[in-house]
Amino acid sequence: MEPLGATTVFLAVCVSCLLFLSAWRKMSGSGKLPPGPVAFPIIGNTLQLNTRNLPQSIQELSVKYGPVFTIYLGSLRVVVLYGQEALKEALIDQADEFSGRGKLALADKVIKGGGTFLTTLKQLRRFALTTLRNFGMGKKSVEERIQEEARFLIARLRNTHERPFDPTIPLTHAVSNIICSIVFGDRFDYEDQKFLTIINLTQENNELLRSFLAQLYNFFPTLMDYIPGPHQLLIKNAEEFERFVLERVKMHKESLDLSCPRDFIDAFLIKMEQERQNSQSEFNTDNLVRSTLDLFLAGTGTSSTTLRYALLILLKYPEIEGTVQTHTILNLGEMRGLHDRSHMPYTDAVIHEVQRTANIVPIGVPHAVTRDTHFREYIIPKGTTIFPALQSVLHDSREFPKPEQFNPGHFLDENGAFRKSDFFIPFSAGKRICVGEGLARMEIFLILTTILQNFTLKPLVDPKDIDITLVTSFVSNRPKPYQLCVLPR
Ligand code: HEM
Repeated sequence: MEPLGATTVFLAVCVSCLLFLSAWRKMSGSGKLPPGPVAFPIIGNTLQLNTRNLPQSIQELSVKYGPVFTIYLGSLRVVVLYGQEALKEALIDQADEFSGRGKLALADKVIKGGGTFLTTLKQLRRFALTTLRNFGMGKKSVEERIQEEARFLIARLRNTHERPFDPTIPLTHAVSNIICSIVFGDRFDYEDQKFLTIINLTQENNELLRSFLAQLYNFFPTLMDYIPGPHQLLIKNAEEFERFVLERVKMHKESLDLSCPRDFIDAFLIKMEQERQNSQSEFNTDNLVRSTLDLFLAGTGTSSTTLRYALLILLKYPEIEGTVQTHTILNLGEMRGLHDRSHMPYTDAVIHEVQRTANIVPIGVPHAVTRDTHFREYIIPKGTTIFPALQSVLHDSREFPKPEQFNPGHFLDENGAFRKSDFFIPFSAGKRICVGEGLARMEIFLILTTILQNFTLKPLVDPKDIDITLVTSFVSNRPKPYQLCVLPR
């Protein structure tokens, strides 16, 4: 390019950037958009945010900008809601406006277009909820499926013969099998190589998701599509997983009995059949595959990470483990069941405290406003992504004194009865609240109590040296890797 041409282009770019920046500032400064740090064109607030630990940056910004503020991930505008009042006003009091699903570029790429999780397809969400209930969410049948899987897990853990092991894969496999049982009608043996490959892929994807380049994808998706790196492998792994689901869907189609649905896939296929004449129907094979992927991706990592953190906490505090064990034996005898939870306030409080401190989705799953929305003194334009910072409620010191400490007393009253708290929102709140809440609560209770009925946990180091600090990445928390031994009781 000639020197004059290059200079002209450079000047033009500078002028456009300045105009863009000034328009942006005007919007933020005129009292319409919530305040926030000055954002730069294209890169937004990337340089001011810790892309490896976004929740921490958000907490710091809340100190400066208050409970409602605006940040830019690259060119994506995000309004952050921080604190119980702001979250309640938005997710409950203005539930309709805040019920859209925000985009995270990488998640969108991994589950192309999204199923129930990433879209606002209300029919699909309703279907997932009711079908999971029909197959037992809150009913006995899912409880039995979980109990059955818990028994397989116990056998698997006995096989460790008191030797040290990392609980990640067995717990992930167990939780994943429960979803398999609901979705595919069948579980997979812990030695099943094909399924182990799938489990390993989900584990690998969890790791890849935490990589710097994968996180950068959410800031600059178009650019990152052209750059090699872990995010590309992540997308490839997801395709592998999609193939696995498609294969199952095909097998179900071949053996479908319209009068006798066996599982989630059958129920979806029947719905597709019923709505065949309806060109607007959301029930098609694409959405079936995506919804199934959703249930896996949303349901496996979350519950298994919580269980992994629960075991780590009990290794750290053996006296809490002992108390839970005493209550488990006293109340449950040979057979545990969900109805027993209400008679076990201490165990219930421990589980709530595990979930509160595990805080596995610290800034929530992104929402979006469905129309131009008046919120407090601001106007949030339609489509703006919203981060409901769940951590700000789970760690509110007005409700949970010394919120950083693990203390089951946070959920017990002075008589030792279970104390419910409106600030306990690990599953979020409002119209997009976790579809799997009932299932997850059952899994965590039944699997944990079954493990403690059968084993005493033995740490490899002195409990006081066990590190329970969480590793935080872009949008999720998890415990550091660890090993333990389980001693049969
Ligand atoms: C400890 C376990 C779990 C935690 C902490 C958790 C947490 C969450 C959170 C915070 C959301 C976002 C809600 C919102 O946008 O406001 C969510 C959504 C969702 N979860 Fe869970 N979840 C867990 C287990 C599960 C399980 C076991 C399943 C499936 C069987 C599941 C399926 C889903 C789905 C499909 C959504 C999307 C709902 C929608 O977009 O309307 N989750 N979960």
